[in-house]
Formats: sequence, structure tokens, C-alpha cells
Amino acid sequence: MTPDLMEEGTRRRESLIARQAEIDARSGGRSAAYGRVLRAGTPDFAHGVALYVEDVTVSFDGFKALNSLSLAVNVGELRCIIGPNGAGKTTMMDCITGKTRPDAGSITFGSNIDLMRLKEADIAQIGIGRKFQKPTVYEQLSVFENLELALAADRRVRAALLSRLSGEQLDRIGAVLTRIHLKDEAQRTAGLLSHGQKQWLEIGMLLMQDPKLLLLDEPVAGMTDEETERTADLFLSLEGEHSLVVVEHDMKFVDQLTQGRKKVTVLHEGSVLAEGLLADVQANQKVVEVYLGR
Ligand SMILES: Nc1ncnc2c1ncn2[C@@H]1O[C@H](COP(=O)(O)OP(=O)(O)OP(=O)(O)O)[C@@H](O)[C@H]1O
Ligand SMILES: [Mg+2]
Repeated sequence: MTPDLMEEGTRRRESLIARQAEIDARSGGRSAAYGRVLRAGTPDFAHGVALYVEDVTVSFDGFKALNSLSLAVNVGELRCIIGPNGAGKTTMMDCITGKTRPDAGSITFGSNIDLMRLKEADIAQIGIGRKFQKPTVYEQLSVFENLELALAADRRVRAALLSRLSGEQLDRIGAVLTRIHLKDEAQRTAGLLSHGQKQWLEIGMLLMQDPKLLLLDEPVAGMTDEETERTADLFLSLEGEHSLVVVEHDMKFVDQLTQGRKKVTVLHEGSVLAEGLLADVQANQKVVEVYLGR
């Protein structure tokens, strides 16, 4: 680089910094948030949309697992996704989290983050947490240690944690323990928990990262009725604070989550077949047919 180009670069940078300082000064208390929104890589939720999937198509050897799928999830919304086996529900989550790359379409987090340009690890980092069907906790560690590790997965605190937990971090772990009903089991080895408790622990591990959007694939599969009910209460307590996308076959659970007033989305052959209140989509002839047809 020639000296005059370097000088030009320095001048531009300085002028940008000065302009940002001016904006910060004018916007007073809002300056920090404003600065954050401007920074690349920070999702903007000001428009109320957490996730926007548009015309997404995924083919596996010519078979379209997702076929021009479009759906939007609002900030704080709890959205249940139902649909017969093979409808594309898990594939949709794979696309959102960067595990599978769509052939066409777009997936946007907030109003500005193009998820299709990000790597899987970066997608997790910007606030999208995913729960797979099988619990994946560290069996040999205690419940508390599992949560501690989940906190350390956050790059920002990993270095600090290497020394010891701060009071604030302890409080966070305590709050999550209460929320996932495992306060009394904090010192228990995770491997000794029931299947349902392991699922809650894994959800707790996701919560330690404070994700804006949580994707939960068949979270109550294999749970007892009581565990299922408690899981519904847990998700309802997270609604508002987080956006949740819940894929589930258990209609009683979906009913508990939607409380007769929330919209559910029915997927079939890789696209949205119907959307509406659970009772309405269950009475929908097209929906009845795809369920009977399996
Ligand atoms: N990696 C892959 N390679 C080939 N085909 C795949 C792959 N992943 C998914 N599929 C196919 O895509 C379709 C959608 O699968 P997906 O797992 O998304 O369905 P689902 O709605 O999650 O079903 P379920 O309710 O059984 O979990 C299925 O026909 C599946 O066989
Ligand atoms: Mg699936």
C-alpha cells in the first residue's frame, strides 16, 4: 500500500469515528443500542420479526425435502410446527442453523442477518439455540457443571471463567436451575437424571447462552405425561422473552402450548400446508388427508 493511500484510509477512518461520536452524542441514552445495531453481525429486531424463511428449497438427490418453504416468526412468539413424518420439519431447522445449505431462498434473523452466509458456529453465537431430539448432556458431570460449561461455551466469558465464576454468573446458573426444575439436583451426576430431566438440562444449557431464538425438535418425545406438562409450563415461561419454534407430534402438548389462541404451522412435502389455530387446522380437510395418508 502506498503512503498516500494509507493516509487516505486513516483520514476516512477518523472521519467515520467522529461521525459516530456525533450521532452518539445527539442520540443521548440510546447511543449504545444504536451503535450496537449499526455494528455488522448484530441482529435488528426493531421490526418485530425474529426469523424470516422465504422460498427455501432443499434437494437431496433431486428429492425436494423443502419446497419453496416460507414462514415468519415474531419476536417473543412461540410457534408450533406440526406435520407428518418426512414433511421437512427437521430439515427446516437444519437450514436455519446452517447445518444444511438450501439450494434457493433466503433465511433472515431479525431484519438484517442473512443466515445463509453464516457458519453453523456463528449462527449459534448470534443467538439461535437448537435442541436436538436426543439429549446431549455431559453424563459424567454434575447438573451444575453442565450449566457452567454451557456458560463457558460463550466466547465472551470463557476467558473469565477459567479463573472462577462471578456472583452474577452464579446467579444466572441459579435462575436457570430454578426454571428447569433442577435446583435440588444441582450436584447430581447428569447421567443419573431421568430422560425428561436430561432434556430440561439441555434446554437449560441453551438458556445459559440467552438465545433470542430457540429451536426445539420433538422436545417431549419419550417424556412421561407429568414431564410433558412441566415442559409446556417451561416453554410458556420462556415465551415473550425468547422466540420459540417447537416441532412436535404430541398434539396434547401442542394444545397446551397454544392455549387455543396461538397459530400453528402445518408442514407437508416441504412447504406450508396450513396455518391457523390448532382446532382449525385439525379440522382442515387437506390436513386430515395428509395425516391419514401416512
Ligand atoms: N441428508 C439427507 N439426505 C437425503 N434425504 C434426506 C436427508 N435429510 C432428510 N431427508 C429426507 O427429507 C425428507 C424430510 O425429512 P425431515 O427429517 O426433515 O422430516 P421431518 O418432518 O423432520 O420428519 P419426522 O417427523 O419424521 O422427524 C424426508 O423424506 C427425508 O428422508
Ligand atoms: Mg424430524
